[in-house]
Amino acid sequence: MDKIKVLVIFGTRPEAVKMAPIVKALKKNQDNFVSKICVTAQHRDMLDQVLRIFDIEPDYDLNIFESGQTLTQITCRALRGLEEVIEDFNPDLILVQGDTTTVFSGALAAFYHQVKIGHVEAGLRSGNLYSPYPEEANRMMTGVLTDFHFAPTETSKDNLLREGYDENKIFITGNTSIDALSWVIDENYKFEEEIINKIDFRNKKVILLTAHRRENIGEPMKNIFSALKDIAKENKDVEVIYPMHLNPKVREIAYEVFKGMQSVHLIEPLDYLPFTNLMNKCHIVVTDSGGVQEEAPSLGKPVLVVRRETERPEGIEAGTAKLAGTDRANIYNELNILLNDEDEYRKMANAVNPYGDGRAAEYIIQAIKDNF
Ligand code: UD1
Ligand code: UDP
Repeated sequence: MDKIKVLVIFGTRPEAVKMAPIVKALKKNQDNFVSKICVTAQHRDMLDQVLRIFDIEPDYDLNIFESGQTLTQITCRALRGLEEVIEDFNPDLILVQGDTTTVFSGALAAFYHQVKIGHVEAGLRSGNLYSPYPEEANRMMTGVLTDFHFAPTETSKDNLLREGYDENKIFITGNTSIDALSWVIDENYKFEEEIINKIDFRNKKVILLTAHRRENIGEPMKNIFSALKDIAKENKDVEVIYPMHLNPKVREIAYEVFKGMQSVHLIEPLDYLPFTNLMNKCHIVVTDSGGVQEEAPSLGKPVLVVRRETERPEGIEAGTAKLAGTDRANIYNELNILLNDEDEYRKMANAVNPYGDGRAAEYIIQAIKDNF
């Protein structure tokens, strides 16, 4: 059999984390695959942080990053760059991961060149086209163009079946985020960041915060941060660490709300290794991130999801995550419960792993080999 030529496309931090296991698996299977990596670089610094950790060198780098560019600009620049890459490499299959604008552009570019598409992390649905925005639409539009849907869970497969997709094209694989996580967590991890080393993890309750969603920017994000500020003010044993997303609109709100708060540490985005190991040491996670919602349950960390809806109901069904919304009073109340009610905390702090067994990349490669 001829080798399958696979082009792996990604562009942002979470796609890089979740594609890394697939990139490695393809390299291990060189008898069956010739693979090349194309980064759009929709993100720059936050992408490069992950490339470094996983020692990935892209074959093509479109370098489309520009601070503050619109969704249209990202889409157009990615599409144009991808056209040249597809014409140069002439792949049999293009792999995209998740729901960013890079993913949709990658799928569209593949379709325009009639190249088969594998969608990793297929079938997640929140049920609201505008939340998360534009991710819900990106993954639905990508689904329409996809030949191989790699669904992480039964729930995501069911979503696809409900939309009428052919069952023979859907493969339940788990989420590759769990593969990546299993490589990096180390109970004896030593942080290089001075600010983290200064924190007394034994006597303090550390809340790890991440927030960046487009639809939360503005009032919802102000509410989320204000609830955390109230909690930090009232509980002397609480410290909040927020590795801020590089989006200046997000940072502006964080600086404004948390001004003067000694127990709230606003820091630069962490590399994946310190970030995941910090998550492993913290007491509670508060997040609007997709990837963090998947990682925290397998580390046994209670997660408050500060969004109005989630496409990841599995953590909530498993009891480790709660949908706290974006209402200040509600987030405050949920945090108070977790901080002061030990039974409630214990109920949520169970390590469960609804998102896969850490071998998703292997299953994806096998499904391609068997079905291409
Ligand atoms: C993007 C994805 C989102 C994903 C998130 C992961 C889209 C539309 N959104 O959102 O689905 O959850 O990445 O983090 O695809 N910036 C930098 N340097 C970087 C990265 C970002 O300065 O390395 C700043 C820039 O000012 C940029 C802004 O952040 O304009 C927003 O970046 P963008 O890629 O448009 O959207 P994200 O909010 O990062
Ligand atoms: N992450 C990281 N450093 C940070 C914050 C997050 O490496 O400072 C990792 C995290 O472990 C997860 C991914 O980035 O794997 C999530 O990215 P993000 O929240 O930006 O995007 P989303 O998952 O919401 O699309």
